[in-house]
Amino acid sequence: MKTIFSGIQPSGTLTLGNYLGAMKHFVKLQEENQCYFCVVDEHAITVPQDRLKLRNNIRSLAALYIASGIDPQKSVLFIQSEVSAHTQLGWMLQTISYIGELERMTQFKDKSHGKDAVSSSLLTYPPLMAADILLYNTDIVPVGDDQKQHLEITRDLAIRFNNRYNDIFTLPEISIPKVGARIMSLQEPTKKMSKSDENLKASIFILDDDKKIEKKIKSAVTDSEGIVKFDKENKPGISNLLTIHASCTDQSIEELEEKYKDKGYGVFKEETALAVIEALKPVKERYQVLIDSKELDDILDEGAEKASFVANKTLQKAKKAMGLGRVKKK
Ligand code: TYM
Repeated sequence: MKTIFSGIQPSGTLTLGNYLGAMKHFVKLQEENQCYFCVVDEHAITVPQDRLKLRNNIRSLAALYIASGIDPQKSVLFIQSEVSAHTQLGWMLQTISYIGELERMTQFKDKSHGKDAVSSSLLTYPPLMAADILLYNTDIVPVGDDQKQHLEITRDLAIRFNNRYNDIFTLPEISIPKVGARIMSLQEPTKKMSKSDENLKASIFILDDDKKIEKKIKSAVTDSEGIVKFDKENKPGISNLLTIHASCTDQSIEELEEKYKDKGYGVFKEETALAVIEALKPVKERYQVLIDSKELDDILDEGAEKASFVANKTLQKAKKAMGLGRVKKK
């Protein structure tokens, strides 16, 4: 049995990219592993958030985890800010992070580019993410392709800490899905689908109604060749729709190429929309039942308690290794 940790930011409405790149895989992993899934609200505040919207997004994301199949009997689901060990270890790991390595992070460059005032937390985001992972002695971190660099720095910080102080942290491995690791924007298919895209036609949100999903897929940017074939370089739009269709139906890209080889983009798009609608339907139904329930609060209370128990143990070891606090006299 391995220990699994992953987190999602409540920084907007979750997209099909979050679902296919991350959430969908969490569900399978919980059968044979000890899993921790986190609503990383302290990461979300590294960019300005509206207080009420953030609150809603936190609750909504927690409900989506359960609605997508996370079973609170098997996995620990919790909110990052309710387990104070995260920011404590995050600070400790900042002390061994170098400004140069943090400035080289693609996410920092993207989010700070062209801004006059850049919050220092955008820079120190990776040591907090490393703390999330390292607190639970995590073996595997299932994420989408865009988190690779963050996992590399997590491993670097763990190795640095272990060498400098004491061998406390387990080195985590990244796990990226074979299909669906990078779902692209429907309007600019060379860019990843993102919660924060200003063009609402570019992203499918998990809670979009069926009509909206159909409309967005029908208006997805493709090419004029008219052949349903996977070719990321020359046909990024069709390749993205093939990936979406394959991930939603658990078919291979080759099977789909064969199925649609004599059909036009119209039919392919229509059936891709249906595949997405079918995949998201049970998630949306369960979400409606959960979102205003006390059951959700009970699950999160229990999750915070279980997570704190494990996280505090690791935190104490790390504090001791660094020489923080005191040893009480007998
Ligand atoms: P976040 O909130 O941006 O995304 C959550 C998960 O969704 C994946 N993802 C995608 N996968 C495929 N295609 C896409 N277009 C797409 N967009 C997002 C992400 O790779 C991620 O797995 N830094 C993290 C949150 C985090 C975390 C952690 C993750 C904080 N602490 C500890 C793992 C472990 C983030 O911003 O993810």
